[in-house]
Amino acid sequence: MRYRPNFTVITLFCLLFFSLTSTAKDPDIDRKVNELLGKMTLQEKVGQMNQYNGFWDATGPAPTDGDAKLKYDHLRAGLVGSVLNVRGYEHVRELQQVAVEETRLGIPLIFALDVIHGHKTLFPVPLAEAASWDLEAIETSARIAAIESSAQGINWTFAPMVDISEDARWGRVVEGAGEDPYLGSQVAIARVNGFQGDDLAANDTIAACAKHFAAYGFPLAGRDYNRADISRDTLYNTVFPPFEAALNAGARTVMNSFNTVNGIPATASTFLMRDILKGRWAFDGVVVSDWGSVSELVAHGFAEDLEHAAELAANAGSDMDMEGYAYVKHLENLVKEGKVSEALVDDAVRRILTLKFELGLFDNPYGYSDKAREEKLLGHKKHLAAARDVAKRSIVLLKNEGELLPIKKSQKNIAVIGPLASDKNSVLGTWRAAVDDNTAVSLIEGMTQYNKHFIYQEGVKFNLGEETFASPIVVNETDRTGMAEAVALAAESDIVVMMLGEHGFQSGEGRSRTHIDFPGLQQELLEAVHAKNKNIILVVASGRPLDLSWADQHVPAILQAWQLGSESGNALAEVLFGHYNPSGKLPVSFPRSLGQVPFTYRQLNTGRPGPKDNVFWSHYNDEKNSPLYPFGHGLSYTGFEYSKLRIDSSDKSSIRVSVKLKNVGKRKGEEVAQLYIRDRVASTVRPLKELKGFQKVELAAGKSKTLKFTLSEKELGFYNADGQFLLENGEFEVMVGGSSDTLLSEVFTY
Ligand code: BGC
Repeated sequence: MRYRPNFTVITLFCLLFFSLTSTAKDPDIDRKVNELLGKMTLQEKVGQMNQYNGFWDATGPAPTDGDAKLKYDHLRAGLVGSVLNVRGYEHVRELQQVAVEETRLGIPLIFALDVIHGHKTLFPVPLAEAASWDLEAIETSARIAAIESSAQGINWTFAPMVDISEDARWGRVVEGAGEDPYLGSQVAIARVNGFQGDDLAANDTIAACAKHFAAYGFPLAGRDYNRADISRDTLYNTVFPPFEAALNAGARTVMNSFNTVNGIPATASTFLMRDILKGRWAFDGVVVSDWGSVSELVAHGFAEDLEHAAELAANAGSDMDMEGYAYVKHLENLVKEGKVSEALVDDAVRRILTLKFELGLFDNPYGYSDKAREEKLLGHKKHLAAARDVAKRSIVLLKNEGELLPIKKSQKNIAVIGPLASDKNSVLGTWRAAVDDNTAVSLIEGMTQYNKHFIYQEGVKFNLGEETFASPIVVNETDRTGMAEAVALAAESDIVVMMLGEHGFQSGEGRSRTHIDFPGLQQELLEAVHAKNKNIILVVASGRPLDLSWADQHVPAILQAWQLGSESGNALAEVLFGHYNPSGKLPVSFPRSLGQVPFTYRQLNTGRPGPKDNVFWSHYNDEKNSPLYPFGHGLSYTGFEYSKLRIDSSDKSSIRVSVKLKNVGKRKGEEVAQLYIRDRVASTVRPLKELKGFQKVELAAGKSKTLKFTLSEKELGFYNADGQFLLENGEFEVMVGGSSDTLLSEVFTY
């Protein structure tokens, strides 16, 4: 049975919406869009809704056969609105020239690319950046990514990914800001501001894209592209807030997701796109499908064929079909047959044209591709310095017993062991935009600046095959060459720095794992080294929380290094030798074992909290409930003390909270002070803790400061299952501290 939603209702809704609002904020743009739309044939309109992946070497001869020829012909016929994965002055210019000079109406293309954590200069992977809790640093990273990519002709990035995820198995945890919707929202705002700047038309700003709408971070069992069966409570209170925050910050585009949400593919979900995004939030920008996600409606078993898929996605509100061929092949006919109304097509095209006007592409279609800027800006020294700065802020000191860290610059007899310590590629992470492989500063390269008294042994080979975005990493499980030498070196050394973890291409799209341990022979290497020398400083590279339980029990010092990008080794060395005092805090909980996953600190109390002396309470029989390292955890080489938590609730619209923070150690340091609340009794049960504020503060040794927070309705309320925002009277607990598990607390009545 062919599913056909009542599209008359959808059209009426859309027309009403459009007549009440105007797509463009600028009336002048509105007028120009309408004028242009009036001149367009239906076929040309559909063309604007079609996005193709980069076609051919644009600087070479025009293609004469195959897919590239089809795309080229479509481009010349005005049947392409945007392309992705084409970058560089000459390539962009060539294609833009065809669109502008050879098509009937000369409508410029928008060039899109996944500029996820930098372009030529790679910054830390997004999860790592979130661990900095440093919004200014995160904004700077996105700003520089926009400057570099726009100089190569890019107008639009498919970032930020604002998917909240509680599941360390899911490979794309690396691309988001972690498990918390409040932190996720703040990071989303910083990234949107960084990409889009103050003026979208400027040639060094690019349009942002909040993705993937929605619930892509909740795939069943952590398997990528898998179904999301998700409550309305979780949708409204966990999944939606970072999207709404990104849109309020002005993000001009949204990408929908591959997955089904409660049985309906997001790409064809009228609830997500018509009711929430374009309805409730009045989003007036562009919704792009994910890669082929319109055509995948057939594989889902939601559409009968490609034509039906086009009908469902267009009616539901996907404005642009990314590399799905569904709109370009079928939308014109669907309109002629009356299955999709032309008013809906007009609405989508208006959004797309508006974006093109906003980006300044009509005024200067070649404004972004500028040879001089490209040569000057890519990988600029200042950008590298910024990447190093963000990288050092993203490192999290998980454990430091016995004060092994920081290492003295005069320290002799250091062993450095582990395949990732000399690696210049893996630490670049996934999504590499314009960076060349093998260009990161490795750990050992970084270390030599501070101390040359170390000897390096790889220990074991990490992987055996290729290292690419599209192919799986083949991990070395058997070849122990080098292990004995490394162990012997450890035995003779005073301290051992080991860098172990995941390969950068083991997280990201299509990289779900059922084991969140050190792949291959690395755990064996760690245990063998430990048997000879316990003075280990473990540097963990990963794009997700790993199970570090063994290491936590046996190794005195652990640094979480994620994948830190181009300046990885320099940033790590600064922290290892105490040149920079670590200040990162976990944006995701690190579990004690995989069985606890999915995990969030935002637990409910349940009807049977514990501990009890029988078994009938909510717990595991073989593991603690608590994580190994909680959300918000991160140590420093100094210490911080919280005291004097005070609440002034006399003004209900602005509850004032103050707390005294003191640096009680011997060094200057930065602390991320975190504020959590608990609504004790509510008509929808609220979590035991929810982050509602944070500040990153620098304090000199011995100094203290009174920090002030305010809580408004926005922070105190919640959404019920009908999507109504409620703020109910009663008691609220306010908790402040340096991690989600070490908090001072006070109660007030609202
Ligand atoms: C990913 C998106 C990405 C798109 C374009 C898809 O496979 O899910 O996040 O933006 O490809 O590269």
